[in-house]
Amino acid sequence: MVEIRKINSKKDFKSNSLVSIEQFSVKALDIFLKRAGNIKKNPKKYSGVAEGKVLYSIFWANSTRTRVSTETAWLKMGGKIVTVVGTQDSSIQKGETLEHTLQMYAGYQPDFIALRTHIPFIPGFAAENFPQISWINCGDGSNEHPTQALLDLFTLKQRFGELKGLKIGFVGDIKHGRTVKSLAKLLKLYEVKMKFIAPASLHAQEELSEQGIDYQVGKIENLKKEILDLDVIYSTRPQLERMDKEDKQKYQNGVYQIDKKTLGKTKALIMSPLPIDSKIKPEIHPAIDKDPRAIYFEQAANGLWARMSIFSLLIGE
Ligand code: CP
Repeated sequence: MVEIRKINSKKDFKSNSLVSIEQFSVKALDIFLKRAGNIKKNPKKYSGVAEGKVLYSIFWANSTRTRVSTETAWLKMGGKIVTVVGTQDSSIQKGETLEHTLQMYAGYQPDFIALRTHIPFIPGFAAENFPQISWINCGDGSNEHPTQALLDLFTLKQRFGELKGLKIGFVGDIKHGRTVKSLAKLLKLYEVKMKFIAPASLHAQEELSEQGIDYQVGKIENLKKEILDLDVIYSTRPQLERMDKEDKQKYQNGVYQIDKKTLGKTKALIMSPLPIDSKIKPEIHPAIDKDPRAIYFEQAANGLWARMSIFSLLIGE
């Protein structure tokens, strides 16, 4: 078994896998941020970086943003792609194991495999067992979503410059989401002040405190007051299928919805990893989409530059 390598310097990126946000030091994050900023200003400079290289884009779980921005990032750098969406057309349907399937993919020697799974820790398993390939974790169940955390960090850096002392409030279903957990680990490194505003049963205080995160508890019932001192409101999607009946009903009825009234005159910017759930009363009211404080579409678009940055560094550019 090969240990997934930590990233402390530019040379540590080359031929590495990106499995967990915990691989990064602040120095490595600063290299990533600088590269993403440069690519955003001048994407053409990196247009040939992936020439002659092959990416497998394997998305066994649903995605809009992560798959398309990963593939676009790769294509913009001149690489070639094989895409697999879902398992319905693969021999997994004939009973082939995930392990054998991953071994087969690795055997065809692509340069990168971007992998999203419902089941946690599969990308880490793949990177350890088939280390001849660079694996990129594009979200593994409720565990991690490292490239999302990186694009979130990039968005904060672009908007605020200095991150130290920034106040961010994570709002919603903290317990079940993977994006908050990955991002909070990064923001701790930059001494960002974090408040977690959730219904009582949807906090993750123990888990995040164990990671050394100063977990300030906020009550979602007092949302209007809780956001008064924030620079950023980071809303998360309620995962209804994992909630108790009472919380589920409250979300379905829009009790915890962020709307114009909740926001009042706050200057805080509103972020979300998206999607927003429109099958219920959405956790962010649709009118907020056009509010200048809402930067979640800009945030999602930054996924392109963040993923180009990661690919170029893993290639060794
Ligand atoms: N933020 C995010 O991971 O979105 P998708 O599920 O659409 O990729």
